[in-house]
Amino acid sequence: MRGPPVGVERRPGSFVCPPSGAPSLSGVSQEEVLAPSITSPLLTLADMDADRDRIEAAMHDAVVTPDAYLNQIASHLIVAGGKRLRPVLAVVGAQVLGDPASHDVVRGGVACELVHLGSLYHDDVMDEAETRRGVETVNAKWGNLQAILAGDFLLSRASEIAASLGTEVAGLLARTIGWLCEGQIEELRHTYDTSRTEASYLASIHGKTASLYGTAARIGGLAAGHDRPLVDALTEYGNAYGMVFQIVDDILDITATDEQLGKPAGHDIVEGVYTLPVLRTLAESTTAAQELGDLLGAPLDAVAQDEALGILRSNDGVASAVETAQEYVDRAVAACDDFPDSAATAALRAAPGALIASVSVTA
Ligand code: IPE
Ligand code: IPE
Ligand code: MG
Ligand code: MG
Repeated sequence: MRGPPVGVERRPGSFVCPPSGAPSLSGVSQEEVLAPSITSPLLTLADMDADRDRIEAAMHDAVVTPDAYLNQIASHLIVAGGKRLRPVLAVVGAQVLGDPASHDVVRGGVACELVHLGSLYHDDVMDEAETRRGVETVNAKWGNLQAILAGDFLLSRASEIAASLGTEVAGLLARTIGWLCEGQIEELRHTYDTSRTEASYLASIHGKTASLYGTAARIGGLAAGHDRPLVDALTEYGNAYGMVFQIVDDILDITATDEQLGKPAGHDIVEGVYTLPVLRTLAESTTAAQELGDLLGAPLDAVAQDEALGILRSNDGVASAVETAQEYVDRAVAACDDFPDSAATAALRAAPGALIASVSVTA
């Protein structure tokens, strides 16, 4: 069995960090990237190290092609690390009855991770991002055209795996790719829009992020042969977990540093993506809200970006967004109500709250 990429550090319960040998762009230790002190209960399950080895092996196998150039581009971000939370969720969802995850469960999770990866290649082109997972983005290293095509290639490999798992899984994955595009388009049509509604924000993150978590959990349940009510409850769980995940990512974009994230912090407001903490701050009847509104609405230079981040960090928008994230935590936990008692169920109940805890680590 193939292990993790060379140099990828594996500590129980910690997120996968980029390999220590990977070029660090910030000069900080790779240990600090992705705030490794943040743990997910999903990663501390007894068999998880072995399951993650299986995920790594299947990920690497999935992107092999006879073309060395495409190989290099398509595996660039896989080698760089990443938390692999989507396949982990598929595996844990499969384990709620106490049985180990089958090879098909792992492959289903990997199909979801490849969709995630392909969407990151495309997202970094859209965001003109230069770093991801603590290394240069594909677009920065090879160019936009290469990043788009390699992203398409990853989606094609994901589809191939899903097709081998049956028509229901294949149809679901195809539909999820559509939801991702709908979410990204909803975000795009409101860039630099200071009157963007919360409904637009929530619809966008549901499509671009939560739906893939819902699908990962669902595919885990389907490939494990769970009954329909359990599969539906896992889907509900994954969707709610994904909402927490994206709201937290949007908060961290404001409160964390580049080094902690392994990707540029404060980038959302520069790109005109006004997320929940921003919308909540703008909605306050305060001078700060007025000042923020005056700064936003157009691209920002570095000075204006710092000023806007200062306002966002010292007002109530972040705390208010955390409260909304907590509501989705409650929904995710409620989705587990009828799950049998098992180590996997306990991890699923604890995982969404642990995402929120990561906000206070960086605040
Ligand atoms: C980043 O996802 C994109 C979002 C949905 C916010 P992750 O934070 O799961 O990224 P990796 O896979 O660990 O790099
Ligand atoms: C998630 O949103 C993007 C995708 C679903 C591909 P973000 O734009 O917030 O992700 P990051 O912050 O760049 O990782
Ligand atoms: Mg982005
Ligand atoms: Mg983000």
